[in-house]
Amino acid sequence: MKLPRRFFQPLATGAPAPFRELPVRLERMIHFVPPHNDKVRARVPELATQVDVVLGNLEDAVPADQKLAARKGFIAMARATDFAAAGTGLWTRINALNSPWILDDLFEIVTEVGDRLDVVMVPKVEGPWDIHYVDQLLAQLEARAGVTKPILVHAILETAEGVANVDAIACASPRMHGMSLGPADLAASRGMKTTRVGGGHPDYRVIADPSPDGGPRAHAQQDLWHYTIARMVDACQANGIKAFYGPFGDFSDAAACEAQFRNAFLMGCAGAWTLHPSQVALAKSVFAPDPAEVAFALRILEAMPDGTGAVMLDGKMQDDATWKQASVIVNLARLVAA
Ligand code: GLV
Ligand code: MG
Repeated sequence: MKLPRRFFQPLATGAPAPFRELPVRLERMIHFVPPHNDKVRARVPELATQVDVVLGNLEDAVPADQKLAARKGFIAMARATDFAAAGTGLWTRINALNSPWILDDLFEIVTEVGDRLDVVMVPKVEGPWDIHYVDQLLAQLEARAGVTKPILVHAILETAEGVANVDAIACASPRMHGMSLGPADLAASRGMKTTRVGGGHPDYRVIADPSPDGGPRAHAQQDLWHYTIARMVDACQANGIKAFYGPFGDFSDAAACEAQFRNAFLMGCAGAWTLHPSQVALAKSVFAPDPAEVAFALRILEAMPDGTGAVMLDGKMQDDATWKQASVIVNLARLVAA
């Protein structure tokens, strides 16, 4: 039996028939907090009014001797704030499936606060079997604890094997909410030669042909993550789930973070992880359509009220396909404005 997709509902705007499902919940940023840190946890109630999703991280970046404190801290955090009333998603990133902590992570969290939890993020997913395992565990624990709202599952795409199996992961369970690119683990898994967490690299570039006057050759950095984001977006959209860019580790380089987020947004991602408060405003502005683009998209919809045919606007041809492109932008703008 298929579980309901709570985050999706038929498009409800405009006269023409809907052509795809629309996310009804904005998730421009998944904001990571370390639940074992008392000071940060004390700020969570206020944070919940500022971000779309708060995620209590139990995995990497939590020291091994703080794993239990992080789990307990997450449970306390989930109880202390009414995230649902604030309209904010509550997620957790559990430890890896081959770690000593995952069973207790899921058991304690679903038992104690399963009715408050929206999404479990699963790291280092390698294939659909990992999702099946979590799916079954969640089903057992929800039944035991009397949790009636199904907890959704979000996979991190961060191993070479996971990328090879991305399509099968995207449709592994009706619980699938979406997927995030994990550039740090993925770089290690692939044997990429970079110590950066996301973003570009000055040596990954295309050099222009030598100039006839012997002057310096122009070059442009390329997006190291283009291929994986494209694969992830296609797998997600083909299965009605959402794709996300993951972490950007250099908090001192807002411009580079914004550029990486924007590439992901333009390619179809719904949001990104924010690891530092400074990245929240960036994600808010990047994962919303440009006002000029929205204005033009509205003109397309107005010029083609039934979504068919061909018209010219400012010398640019519009037809049924561009009507759909315009709908993507206008529907997101309406969601942001709502
Ligand atoms: C995130 O978990 C990453 O490995 O980049
Ligand atoms: Mg990782």
